[in-house]
Amino acid sequence: MTTKYNIVSIIRKKRDGKTLDNEEIQYLINQYTADEIPDYQVSAFLMASYLNGLNDEESAALTESMLNSGQIVDLSHISGKKVDKHSTGGVGDKLSLILAPIVAAAGVPVPMISGRGLGHTGGTLDKLESIPGFKVDMDLARYKEIIENHDLVLAGQTAEIAPADKRLYALRDVTATVESIPLIAGSIMSKKLAEGIDALVLDVKAGSGAFMKTTDDAIELGEALVGIGTQFEKETIAYVTNMNQPLGYKIGNWLEVEECIDAMHGEGPDDIMEITYLLSGTMIYLGDKAESVKAGIEKSKEMIESGAAFQKWLDIVEEQGGDVEMIKSPQKYPEAEYEFEIKAEKDGFVSEMNSYEIGMASVELGAGRKKKEDDVDPQAGIALTKKIGDKILKGETILTGYTNKASAIEAASDKLFGAVTISKTKPEEVEMVSHTIDKEGSRAFEL
Ligand code: URA
Repeated sequence: MTTKYNIVSIIRKKRDGKTLDNEEIQYLINQYTADEIPDYQVSAFLMASYLNGLNDEESAALTESMLNSGQIVDLSHISGKKVDKHSTGGVGDKLSLILAPIVAAAGVPVPMISGRGLGHTGGTLDKLESIPGFKVDMDLARYKEIIENHDLVLAGQTAEIAPADKRLYALRDVTATVESIPLIAGSIMSKKLAEGIDALVLDVKAGSGAFMKTTDDAIELGEALVGIGTQFEKETIAYVTNMNQPLGYKIGNWLEVEECIDAMHGEGPDDIMEITYLLSGTMIYLGDKAESVKAGIEKSKEMIESGAAFQKWLDIVEEQGGDVEMIKSPQKYPEAEYEFEIKAEKDGFVSEMNSYEIGMASVELGAGRKKKEDDVDPQAGIALTKKIGDKILKGETILTGYTNKASAIEAASDKLFGAVTISKTKPEEVEMVSHTIDKEGSRAFEL
């Protein structure tokens, strides 16, 4: 086949900081997906894009090409606006498991395709699979059947969804090109736009446990994500939220499911519930079941208080093959073989909890993967006793670690010990949500 495009010229153009046409980006993605361009040339393109950036048009063209590399799910036969949420990833971030049943119980269909743990961050699929029997792998026919029956489905990325992103992501992982705002934005949005949604809420994390360490970078990523959503005519609202300490008190797959069960019984930790209600309230608002985000938050609280969210959770666990008895009686879940405590060496206030280090310690204990092919241990993880701002006395427990690998305890303990700082004075309270981003731009958060 003759073509006016030449992959070397496309790489050179990006290397020299010039702007690529939509057709050039489309050509590159199509040919790569068809195995007509080798990994080494796409790696060069990725590095050139990482170093020189992609403008809004290039980013939209990349997203569209990755989106069109697979199927776009048609859920138009299901009445009502379909709304999903995506988080850019954090430590102890279990919000999807709580908010998806809340929103579905409020009558807004939630087609949710999630990912696995990445680096120090946990993944919704690994948490769901810690429920004995729960299945996240399915084809599109089953995906559609579940959402039709329950207004909710919790699935992994099927082979039909954005296959180009799957290949590009694996290549980025091994070519040091993950941390690029336009590449992250294109990757996330190509998958979300393929799910069959009408609107999207984004939780963009900022802080030590997030991919974006500063609020400014998180705002830039949020603006890129919202920009793409808007170009594709999906109403998209993002919030920048604090990830300078783990969310809630539990980190690790089953431990986090347990905390979600507490939350659905109305006993969730304050930080978890504040962000969960904001995100679920926004989803309910975007799904036209509340007149404002505030009214959506009130409706979310009603879904918890009435037990409707918990009933929706039981229904979906049963539908997707999970052991409902374990959800009703979580104390029956077997515990990890080993547990150890980290104690305070002096009196004071907890002033820092480095979530990156805590996330890495949980990986060490078995809750995440060091290599792609590793299995995760559903019982491994960490339970915090204290959080930033809490008073602590010498000898008191700061946190407890759980693992089935005795050999991991020493390295994890060192990491955990170094992750917590105790100071003489009480640190200032930090806001959980700093900014809202929508099609009008970004502004300080106000409800
Ligand atoms: N999550 C994704 O899906 N893609 C990225 O590039 C980063 C996080």
